[in-house]
Amino acid sequence: MALPADFLWGAALAANQCEGAYQEDGKGLSVADVMTAGTVDTPRRITTDVEAGVYYPNHDSVDFYHRYKEDIALFAQMGLKVLRLSIAWSRIFPEGDEIEPNERGLAFYRSVFAELKRYNIEPVVTLSHYEMPLGLVRKYGGWRDRRLVDFFARYCDVCFREFGDTVRYWLTFNEINVAEYNPWSPTGINMRPGDEGYWPTIYQAAYHQFVASAKAVIRAHEIDPGLKVGCMTLAGIVYPKTCHPLDAKAADDFQNDMLAFADVQVRGHLPSFLCKAMERRGVTLVREAGDDEILRAGTVDFVGFSYYSSMVQSGTETDAEKTGGNMVSGVKNPYLETSAWGWQLDPMGLRLTLRLLYNRYKKPLFVVENGLGAADEVVDGRVDDDYRIAYLRAHIAAMIDAVDEDGVDLMGYTPWSALDLVSAGTGEMKKRYGFIYVDRDNEGAGTLERIPKKSFFWYRGVIASNGTNL
Ligand code: BG6
Repeated sequence: MALPADFLWGAALAANQCEGAYQEDGKGLSVADVMTAGTVDTPRRITTDVEAGVYYPNHDSVDFYHRYKEDIALFAQMGLKVLRLSIAWSRIFPEGDEIEPNERGLAFYRSVFAELKRYNIEPVVTLSHYEMPLGLVRKYGGWRDRRLVDFFARYCDVCFREFGDTVRYWLTFNEINVAEYNPWSPTGINMRPGDEGYWPTIYQAAYHQFVASAKAVIRAHEIDPGLKVGCMTLAGIVYPKTCHPLDAKAADDFQNDMLAFADVQVRGHLPSFLCKAMERRGVTLVREAGDDEILRAGTVDFVGFSYYSSMVQSGTETDAEKTGGNMVSGVKNPYLETSAWGWQLDPMGLRLTLRLLYNRYKKPLFVVENGLGAADEVVDGRVDDDYRIAYLRAHIAAMIDAVDEDGVDLMGYTPWSALDLVSAGTGEMKKRYGFIYVDRDNEGAGTLERIPKKSFFWYRGVIASNGTNL
């Protein structure tokens, strides 16, 4: 057992999925505020404005905005050493392009960080987690416009200066590579793969985020060289369906494609296979003088990633049976079970992902999301989520093996999610990930009461024993 004594055990949240209070204290609308509820079969609808009579689950979410003291006290009881949470950009710059920040938005996060400090819980802050200001979509078309680089830089500068004394760990863009597959939440661009002009728009937007991320790293280090800034990529090992060389190539293509954005953030330049993919997809990036130097100087200090599933790709069968997954999916793996939402469960895949990323990047890794979405039920006032404990136990064991036996340098683990919140993919409350149950349903009814689940008490023991008591 070789987890370091300072291993960052924690749990994760995102502002738009837990805070609610979507118009309070000067907050502007974000891209999450115009997403309706959906299900696994009915995609969430994106509306141009808030429509009367339509239910938007992120508007009130689970009311962390008013209940953060109670929630943080529970996180402290669980023994969390870190809490990964995000700052809603639209609380600080309601429209996104203002010159001066919204003081009331800053005050809220100041209080949240002070509360965490009271319990010695260290924040790990994502600067942009699927909640950019809607104003930037309306006026500029989202990240396709280069001016967003400067707006984001201003926002980051304010955050680092305001909170840099209490927040040491930062992540720039949540799952930056999701822009390729599902661009609305990460970039504010309402297009689907296959739409005309898709690739030139998406790659240009992603390129702007590469530059913005690098500038954020540079600025954080200027303000305080002790600040650690990481990237955050959706990750997962990709298996070939068979040992047929064409299957192996399809898997490798997909893997490289998936990691290409993190490659830029870690290595400071666009990998050649990404340039070739752009060429094939008819993309000519618009770049500015000085960008190469910014990308080179703004490489990240650590690699954060989410892991929910491994994936399978086939280069030989076009009609191979498909499976569901987080933002991306692939071919069904007959050896794996799936969650109730069709995501394949593969703890060994986490170990292989850790090996892959460490060998590729040689930088400290941080598992900033991993978890099981399930329709938990309260029975006699208790939530006995043994299936979640089994999931987390197997993934933590695989993670420890990666450290112990494979020599991976791993900083921490913040499973999704600290408490139940609105699902990003489907907008459901029913798809629960939390250690703490929240009494709220898909239609927004419920008392919002918090009930620690069985996994809460189990995870407390895991943290207290530094992973020896699984
Ligand atoms: C990640 C996101 O993609 O997966 C989270 O960073 C999200 O915001 C999590 O909630 C789980 O996905 P979902 O769709 O089940 O909420």
